[in-house]
Amino acid sequence: MGVTLTIDQHIARVVIDRPEALNAMNESVLVQMKQAVDSIQNNENVRVAIFMGGGVKSFVAGADINYMSSMTPLEGEKWGKFGQSVFMAISELRCPTIAVIQGYALGGGTELAISCDLRIASEKACFAQPEVKLGIIPGFGGTQRLTRLIGPGYAKQMIFTGDQFSALQALAMGLVNEVVSHDKLIERVDALAQSIISGSPNGIRLAKEAIEHGLQGSLNKGLQLEAALFGLCFASPEQREGMTAFVEKRKPKF
Ligand code: HXC
Repeated sequence: MGVTLTIDQHIARVVIDRPEALNAMNESVLVQMKQAVDSIQNNENVRVAIFMGGGVKSFVAGADINYMSSMTPLEGEKWGKFGQSVFMAISELRCPTIAVIQGYALGGGTELAISCDLRIASEKACFAQPEVKLGIIPGFGGTQRLTRLIGPGYAKQMIFTGDQFSALQALAMGLVNEVVSHDKLIERVDALAQSIISGSPNGIRLAKEAIEHGLQGSLNKGLQLEAALFGLCFASPEQREGMTAFVEKRKPKF
């Protein structure tokens, strides 16, 4: 058991499956996750990547507490940097990524979910950054990505209290995109993936690049990048196909 990657019809599925620990991430899980992410990045055919936990109870219950329990400060820093690098590789995937959260997304589990572009949660999902209850702080990007995603007020509430938040609370905070009934979760995610696949892969890739780079700099720099990437779209056959299809009143073929 560990991390499995399957690629089918433009969709990559990464499943974190470590049932004996509710999919908690130890070194082996992170190493396998990085290998899966590298394979996706190197596969031009993939247009959407889905990250999910195995089983019904947990997305990912965090980093493995047993594994971390006797770390020295230096080992802790190295572990944090390693996890950050894996999650950075996820956020830098060229294709859109979707986290499918059916149960616990705790600590590193929430940090994994917010490294993805979109989050679809079951009504049974629950989220927390419980690190302060363990005497540590979020270390796989939570202090930074969570704050950027839901703002400092909610991020501080989650991180300072360590409390669990329901799927509906997560929706209200902007932590997830949608909450769906548990038995419709996979169906909804598949429909979302198909909707993304029906768009221009080049357009989606460039839009993601503009959004991600723009978030890290000033509005002016972001707008300059947007203009350059907008121009670049016109070097792609996908722009001609998209606009020709509109004029010809048919669906574009990407
Ligand atoms: C190691 C874990 C684990 C974890 C669960 N397990 N979470 N093992 N690390 N993060 C193991 C349990 O020890 C138990 O193993 C088995 O999974 C089932 O869990 P139970 O506790 O028996 O289940 P339940 O009573 O339903 O409670 C579920 C739970 C609870 C609420 C998710 O397990 C829990 O609070 N887990 C810890 C969550 C957490 O604090 N995550 C943040 C970690 S820190 P056994 O062998 O007893 O059956 C983190 C930092 C990231 O993520 C950044 C690092 C740099």
